[in-house]
Parts: sequence; structure tokens; C-alpha cells
Amino acid sequence: MSQKIGVIGGGTMGHGIAAAFALGGCPAILYEPAESQRAAILPAIRDAYALLVEEGIATAAAVVAAETRLHLTDDLSAAVADRDFIVEAIPERLDLKQALFADLDVRAPADAVLASNTSSLPLAAMMETVSAARRERMLVTHWYNPPLIMPLVELSLFGNMPEPVYDRVAKLHASIGKRTVKVLKDVPGLIANRIQQAIAREVFSIIEQGIAAPEDVDRALKFGPAFRYATTGQLEVADFGGLDIWAAVGDNLLAVMDASKAASPLLKQKVAEGKLGVKSGEGFYRYSPDTVGEVRRAFLKRLIHQLKASRAYG
Ligand SMILES: NC(=O)c1ccc[n+]([C@@H]2O[C@H](COP(=O)([O-])OP(=O)(O)OC[C@H]3O[C@@H](n4cnc5c(N)ncnc54)[C@H](O)[C@@H]3O)[C@@H](O)[C@H]2O)c1
Repeated sequence: MSQKIGVIGGGTMGHGIAAAFALGGCPAILYEPAESQRAAILPAIRDAYALLVEEGIATAAAVVAAETRLHLTDDLSAAVADRDFIVEAIPERLDLKQALFADLDVRAPADAVLASNTSSLPLAAMMETVSAARRERMLVTHWYNPPLIMPLVELSLFGNMPEPVYDRVAKLHASIGKRTVKVLKDVPGLIANRIQQAIAREVFSIIEQGIAAPEDVDRALKFGPAFRYATTGQLEVADFGGLDIWAAVGDNLLAVMDASKAASPLLKQKVAEGKLGVKSGEGFYRYSPDTVGEVRRAFLKRLIHQLKASRAYG
């Protein structure tokens, strides 16, 4: 099912979302207002496509065809005037998103669906600035980074949108190879980020308490729980293990685990020291400027290998 796509904001997420739609067979126009960012987009997409070809995930011919389907513009009307589906990936600020949606409501076709890639803002608040008719055609479509590789897109079905409109959006994302899930309540973090934060809270706490070194904590996760999670969901894992065991272990462990309601003090201390991770050269590990490119590429390759393997899981 090929629909005409508009993507608003060509930063980390937006350029990858546009690239994913184009590779999936949809004509996509990407609107990016900042000139410096616009200049970086096509080289970044070409690099990402080249890696997919190198790893056998896409053919060279498919990538050439995708590049012909992808257009970049600094003209918002040109990006949305004839589009079927428009997704925004502008900065995570309610005032910016409300202003954009008010604008899109006027510029986009009446039957176009408008989506937000927000990580944390309520859909109800983002819809305040659009007409009643448009509210039936608005949802959250939350992608995971990097969008070209990560299969998950969480879709909201919060009661404002008729199911046939939702089904069309779900089919559109399935048609480009994404795995969608339906989220039924307008809660911050939807599903995946809430699960991820729960794991991260305990991981940071284990480091803070000196229970193990960072390498060992990451190994325990990769070769323990996350090894199963790549193929088997938590509820399936619980059923395999036995719910009686999970109930008993839950009572014993949850009583002594971290239950804080804010980000880890250790994390905040590192941020205050300018240790932001790969982008600053140090986080929990150190990254030298000479090898950082290689480290990023190895990360993407691991995700691509996982993507290939996951195609067998259904
Ligand atoms: N980065 C992530 O890992 C991630 C993951 C999932 C969801 N998200 C969400 O996706 C959205 C975008 O995040 P990002 O990390 O890509 O941000 P980003 O800062 O990398 O990119 C935002 C882009 O939007 C452009 N922009 C700014 N104001 C604009 C406007 N009014 N109209 C059009 N374009 C505008 C900027 O020039 C920039 O290129 C946010 O809502 C974020 O919460 C991010």
C-alpha cells in the first residue's frame, strides 16, 4: 500500500523516518527548516543505505529507487499539500508541536492523517489546536532510533480515531516492514520506553551500589534477560518460567530493588561533569575520537544482524 508521505523535521529521527518510508516504496517529502541540517541529511541517508546494502538488508537497486522517491524541501506547504500521511519529528516541545499541528491542519488535505513521533507529550494536548474533524485523523506514531533499522513503531488508538483510519495507518507501517503495536491509553512513554526505563533504573542503581562493574552489568543483561527478550516477550518468559515462581521471586526482589521516582543521581552527576556518552567521548565507558566512528558503525551492524535474525520470529 503506497501512500504519499510528508515528514516534518529532518533531525535524528525525521531523516531516518523519511528514509525508511522511501526504502519501503512510499514517495516521501522531508521538510527541514535549518539549512545546515538540510545539507547533512542526504549524505547521512546515503551512508545509512550503503550500510544496509553492505549487510545484505537492501539491494543496490532498491536503494537507487528509494533515493528517487525521497525529496528534501524548505517549503512546508510543498511537503504537505498533497500528502496522505504526515508525521512530525520536531523538538519535544508542546508549544512547537501545537503550532505546527495548527498550521498542518490548514495546509494539509482534509483527509490526511497527522502523526507525532513524540516520546512523552500527551496527544490530547497536541490536538488542542486543530479542528474537531482533524482530531479523528491524529495519532502518535512512536519510532525507535535508528528508524531505518529498528522495527518497532508504537501506534496510539486513544479513542479519537475511528478504527478503519487506524487500520490504514497500521497497514502503511507494516507495508514498509515495521512491527507495530497498538497503545490504548494516552500515557507518557507508551509501552517500550516505560519498560526500558524500568530496566535502566535498576542497571544504574546496581552500578551506584558497586554491585558489579559496567562491563559485567552489560554482559549480564546481553547474555541473560535481553538474550531471551530479543525473541520472547516478558509475558511469554513468565509463562515459561511459571507464574508461581515469578510471584515468589517478585515478592523477594522487588522489596529490595530501586524504586526511585527520578533519574539516577549517578547519571545526573555524569551529566554535570560533561560525561554524556559517545558524543562527548566518555559516559560509563571511554571513546577515543579515532575509534568513535568505528564504534558507532559496529553498533549499527549489531542492530542489522539482529534485524535479520528477527525476520524469522513472526
Ligand atoms: N532521538 C531519539 O532517540 C528519539 C526517539 C523516539 C522519538 N523521538 C522524538 O522525535 C522527535 C524529534 O526528535 P529528534 O531527536 O529527531 O530531534 P532533533 O533535534 O534531532 O531534530 C529536530 C529537527 O526539527 C527541526 N525543527 C525545529 N523546529 C522545527 C519546526 N518548527 N518545524 C519543522 N522542523 C523543525 C530542527 O531543525 C531539527 O532538524 C521528538 O519529539 C523526540 O521526542 C526521539
